Amino acid sequence: MTANTDITALERDLVSEISAARDLSALEQVRIAALGKKGRVSELMAQLGKLAPDERKAFGQAVNAVKERVTGALEARKSDLEGAALDGRLATERLDVTLPVRPGPIADGRIHPVSQVYDEIIEIFGDMGFAVAEGPDIETDDYNFTKLNIPPEHPARQDHDTFYLQPKADGSRMVLRTHTSPVQIRTMLTQKPPIRIIVPGRVYRSDSDQTHTPMFHQIEGLVIDEVTHLGHLKWCLEEFCKAFFEVDDVKMRFRASHFPFTEPSMEVDIDAAAIGKPGSWLEILGSGMVHPNVIANCGLDPETYQGFAFGMGLDRIAMLKYGIPDLRDMFAADMRWLRHYGFLSLDVPTLAGGVSS
Ligand code: DAH
Repeated sequence: MTANTDITALERDLVSEISAARDLSALEQVRIAALGKKGRVSELMAQLGKLAPDERKAFGQAVNAVKERVTGALEARKSDLEGAALDGRLATERLDVTLPVRPGPIADGRIHPVSQVYDEIIEIFGDMGFAVAEGPDIETDDYNFTKLNIPPEHPARQDHDTFYLQPKADGSRMVLRTHTSPVQIRTMLTQKPPIRIIVPGRVYRSDSDQTHTPMFHQIEGLVIDEVTHLGHLKWCLEEFCKAFFEVDDVKMRFRASHFPFTEPSMEVDIDAAAIGKPGSWLEILGSGMVHPNVIANCGLDPETYQGFAFGMGLDRIAMLKYGIPDLRDMFAADMRWLRHYGFLSLDVPTLAGGVSS
């Protein structure tokens, strides 16, 4: 084998090793083994001294040419491998800037329909000049019943399925309020007329089926001054229903009824056309002119002061408005239900923007 065939074989070997190098560090190994101080090309150069002077020039030129070509092949392969490495990084570190922003807690949380409907009702009555009043869930028997003209032996006490607390030493007992009406008493005892309030709140009765839960929500209204009459009551409730159900007109029916704390008393029905189902009446609230005994029980003179009151089941009208079929689901704390029926926290009801937005 001549020196020249050695060179040709070496070049072939090196070129195939270069193209077989899988990554930059493998390529570096090939480079060192070829062109490093003790590399195979460098060793060929070292043989130069052993050759006859006439052979040296041609051999030297041939080895240099191989060295140049191998260097060129190394560089080409290096830039290929660097390009592939960059492509690989680009593929794995890819960021799609067109993806929508992930929702944060504000977009993810939901307002319960009960809270939303409270806000809607407060917005509507607030616009008519009503203030919001509140009272405790644990109430005296006196405020929940007696001062509302429901004395101890009155049959209405039985109707309320009251939760009683243990009697106190003096024999009196507290109750979980069965309605928001005791806040009428609390307000008249502490505030001089004119009074114009609505009272949102939880109430409790020992009752449970598809349309009753032991805890539910009411909203009470009370107006006391020297001039308010039944016409004002009807107008107020009509305006409320139009705003709440967001219709231009609502047909209402005032049915004579009986509540101990009002005289006369009326139950109010609306034509279900307001919720898109014409042809039937829906009872939505109880109301009436505040009974003179109730006014007197609060230390006000019923000859001077008069007014109206109403009480509405909040859960029920929320269900009517938003098509919620079962009352018990309202309090089941099921996130799937809340995601479906709940409201976004920024959907604040306003008369200008539409109460249910
Ligand atoms: N408190 C009554 C109830 O829970 C509802 C009610 C009826 C309230 C007539 C009123 C009213 O203020 O005037 O069944």
